[in-house]
Amino acid sequence: MNTATRTLVRSALIIFAAALGIACSEPSAPTANSNASVSAAPTYDLRLDMQDFMNSVLEPVSDVLWDYAGWVDDINTGYEDLYPKNDEEWLLVKQKAAQLIEAGNALALPGRAVDNDAWITYSNALSTAAAFAYDSAQTQNREDFFQAGAQIYSVCTACHQGYNPEISRFASN
Ligand code: HEC
Repeated sequence: MNTATRTLVRSALIIFAAALGIACSEPSAPTANSNASVSAAPTYDLRLDMQDFMNSVLEPVSDVLWDYAGWVDDINTGYEDLYPKNDEEWLLVKQKAAQLIEAGNALALPGRAVDNDAWITYSNALSTAAAFAYDSAQTQNREDFFQAGAQIYSVCTACHQGYNPEISRFASN
């Protein structure tokens, strides 16, 4: 991030924090004619359908992880090590792993989860595999990072086989 963007992000955060402060300082007991809902039941913005969730959330995040997880042995270019090469790249993959942990949570949200059974197991497994990637990025452990990438891939594949064996675009990745 350049300095200008960083400043922007920081101001946005301050505004956000201020908004939270206002929200928190509102009286907690609703007045008689208040429309504020009494219960704090969470609501979720589920506008992304499953296809969009896959294409716009899961795939771009996991693609970055896979891009860094391993090596290629190309007949033309020879052996190429793909692992993160410096602290900045390890930080990038750690952030992607963090996003994938949370994406696993988002996959399991009430209203998005297709059922309360295997779907939740796969979603949780995605977060667990992503947490492995997160930890190995933290310690910059290549071997573990590679294993984590493979685990993530097998969770994606297992859920697809269970819920939509037709998925072909993913298989070609
Ligand atoms: C909990 C189950 C589940 C998990 C885990 C899962 N997917 Fe999916 N995925 C689906 C379902 C269901 C569809 C079919 C969506 C549809 O077409 O309505 C799908 C479809 C897709 C598609 C095709 C979308 C299209 O345009 O047709 C891609 C790409 C994809 N998933 C990527 C991934 C990746 C990458 C991962 C792992 C990081 C992953 N998925 C993990 C359930 C899952």
